[in-house]
Amino acid sequence: MQVLQNISLKNYNTFGIDVNAQQFVSVSSIDELKWVLAEYKSADKLFLGGGSNMLLTKPINGLVIHLNIKGKSVVFENENRVQVKGFAGENWHEFVLWCIEQGFGGIENLSLIPGNLGSAPIQNIGAYGVELKDVMVSCDVLDLRDFSVKTLTNEECQFGYRESIFKQQEKGNFIVLSVILELTKSNHNLHTSYGAIQEELEKMGVSNPSIKNISTAVINIRRSKLPDPKDLGNSGSFFKNPVIASEKYQALKVVFPDMPQYPVSENEVKVPAGWLIEKAGFKGKTLGNYGVHKKQALVLVNYGGASGSDILNLARLIQKTVVRIFGIAIETEVNIL
Ligand code: EPU
Repeated sequence: MQVLQNISLKNYNTFGIDVNAQQFVSVSSIDELKWVLAEYKSADKLFLGGGSNMLLTKPINGLVIHLNIKGKSVVFENENRVQVKGFAGENWHEFVLWCIEQGFGGIENLSLIPGNLGSAPIQNIGAYGVELKDVMVSCDVLDLRDFSVKTLTNEECQFGYRESIFKQQEKGNFIVLSVILELTKSNHNLHTSYGAIQEELEKMGVSNPSIKNISTAVINIRRSKLPDPKDLGNSGSFFKNPVIASEKYQALKVVFPDMPQYPVSENEVKVPAGWLIEKAGFKGKTLGNYGVHKKQALVLVNYGGASGSDILNLARLIQKTVVRIFGIAIETEVNIL
């Protein structure tokens, strides 16, 4: 382990933003992490996982700690179920594929989500009808206030839609070290009802899908809409889908009869931000070397060499325009740094 000076973070964030970190260290064990924290007590710190949910708008004048702690193993199993533990630095998608290879079901719908295991509980990653909270038993965290390792249960993480205790009350207090997921070995609980999955399985000629088939269907759907950060800098959904009062939705529907919605509760609905942004005229809009993705308006992209503040300005313009047209505030899902 070596603390490096003045290095570019371009290859450490999926947006591919080229900003400088004053100091940078990659830690590959909990002991290394504790050592760095003790040694660099007074430094400003930024903890970096897969860098897939952040927009870097300025240089980091402090120490970047890259969490590269790896490892995965089965910690419990019986005939039907298994508990798998994975460390924070494991790549999420590779972990999903490994679980599928072992025949473990439950996270196949979360195939191809960028990022690492350590970030998964922070925003309760979700896609195609499944969220991390549906399978997570617990996670181990390092408490930055006293350097103790604690285990938080699923309930204690207070998961919501792209939400958790790590983004609320405990913001900045914990580093996720590992997660334990409970998966199925038989009688898998398949989720194929989410719109496009069924259609994709039919296209694949599959009528009795395996977990592998579902993973392949999700990969095909994601590849058709979402850009691969290896080819085009992006951070997945830049905004969260807003939740609004059903009453407000009914009023808007009079003016915009084709506005989609998903019920959330008796008196609230979720509106796809992608639809709002597309209606506001931003889908596929290109401003020099950055813009809004052509196939999914929820995704902002860096065509190469864009700065974080360029992209942030575009995001602000989108937010303002959506408020002006629909009276709906859309929040960023991505962390702005
Ligand atoms: N839509 C448009 N135009 C667009 C994009 C979407 O009109 O450009 C409308 C369509 O009506 C479509 C609806 O939005 O039917 C929903 O679109 P989609 O199924 O693509 O899902 P989403 O709500 O845009 C969410 C997640 C994605 C996740 C998909 C699938 C959020 C913020 N995003 O997107 O998550 O993959 O559902 O479950 O909840 C991510 O978090 O990075 C991410 C990609």
